[in-house]
Amino acid sequence: MASKNQLHHHFTCLALLIFTLGVCEVASCAALEDASVNERHQQWMVQFGRVYKDTKERQKRFQIFKQNVLRIDSFNATNNKPYKLGVNQFADLTNQEFTASRNGFKGHMCSNTTTTFKYENATALPSTVDWRKKGAVTPIKDQGQCGCCWAFSAVAAMEGVTKLTTGKLISLSEQELVDCDTKGEDQGCEGGLMDDAFQFIEKNKGLTTESIYPYKGVDGTCNTNEEANHAAKINGFEDVPANSEDALQKAVANQPVSIAIDAGGFDFQFYSGGVFTGSCGTDLDHGVTTVGY
Ligand SMILES: *[C@@H]1O[C@H](CO)[C@@H](O)[C@H](O)[C@H]1NC(C)=O
Ligand SMILES: *[C@@H]1O[C@H](CO)[C@@H](O)[C@H](O)[C@H]1NC(C)=O
Ligand SMILES: *[C@@H]1O[C@H](CO)[C@@H](O)[C@H](O)[C@H]1NC(C)=O
Repeated sequence: MASKNQLHHHFTCLALLIFTLGVCEVASCAALEDASVNERHQQWMVQFGRVYKDTKERQKRFQIFKQNVLRIDSFNATNNKPYKLGVNQFADLTNQEFTASRNGFKGHMCSNTTTTFKYENATALPSTVDWRKKGAVTPIKDQGQCGCCWAFSAVAAMEGVTKLTTGKLISLSEQELVDCDTKGEDQGCEGGLMDDAFQFIEKNKGLTTESIYPYKGVDGTCNTNEEANHAAKINGFEDVPANSEDALQKAVANQPVSIAIDAGGFDFQFYSGGVFTGSCGTDLDHGVTTVGY
């Protein structure tokens, strides 16, 4: 009986819904949609503590929010992908604004300086690798609104090899790189390259810890006292031969690896979980770290 009633109830709702849509004029439909997205925008503002300087700015941000949310809704509705999109803290930013403030990898092409490749003869590669499960990856850090992905990428790879060589997982300092590393292309929040960061770290004879030189997410002056403590060091680095997934697999089977990706797309802005299989360009603009396959 209960289930029959429920079924009946569902039919009533469905009927009502169709009826409501049926009588709704085009103009008032848009108004209804606006009202509902407006409510979501308001809740979202509370959730992420967002405040706008005036109503004009709020109107502008609402329009962007609406476009993004409707697109995420429709992605979810036809969800046949192994990854999800969600309304995150970037929902009132256009894709251009989002990539401009965060994707600070300045390479735009893979470097081709490879002369040797440490893992070229690696064989019997495991079918899956997850360095997080082996305790070689620190918890996810947030670069905030500073385009120093290059520093996070380099530090995560270095945290990984430090764990593999010393047995200790130590969270290392991105801010030290932001403030102190002016090698090559490295310009703090304005972008940089992982290779330049590794060169800096090598020459600097190490890097200090996150707790001694904590992340601030803005450019600062190099604190030479804090920097003087070297918690971990590297003796060198190599590039994985470009355009070879086999080579990358060999490297990742042996350690976490800094890589650059094209993270400019809408799906990247709102990625919320799962295995990303969306379209991905070749305009490398973001430094990240591969921690498994
Ligand atoms: C889309 O799916 C995700 C994951 O299930 C969920 O968190 C989100 O609320 C859904 N809708 C929107 C608009 O984000
Ligand atoms: C990489 O290759 C290009 C094209 O062959 C060449 O012009 C460039 O000098 C090379 N860069 C380095 C760092 O070797
Ligand atoms: C890989 O094997 C070849 C052939 O034995 C050898 O010449 C080369 O040095 C090896 N490479 C590395 C990085 O050990």
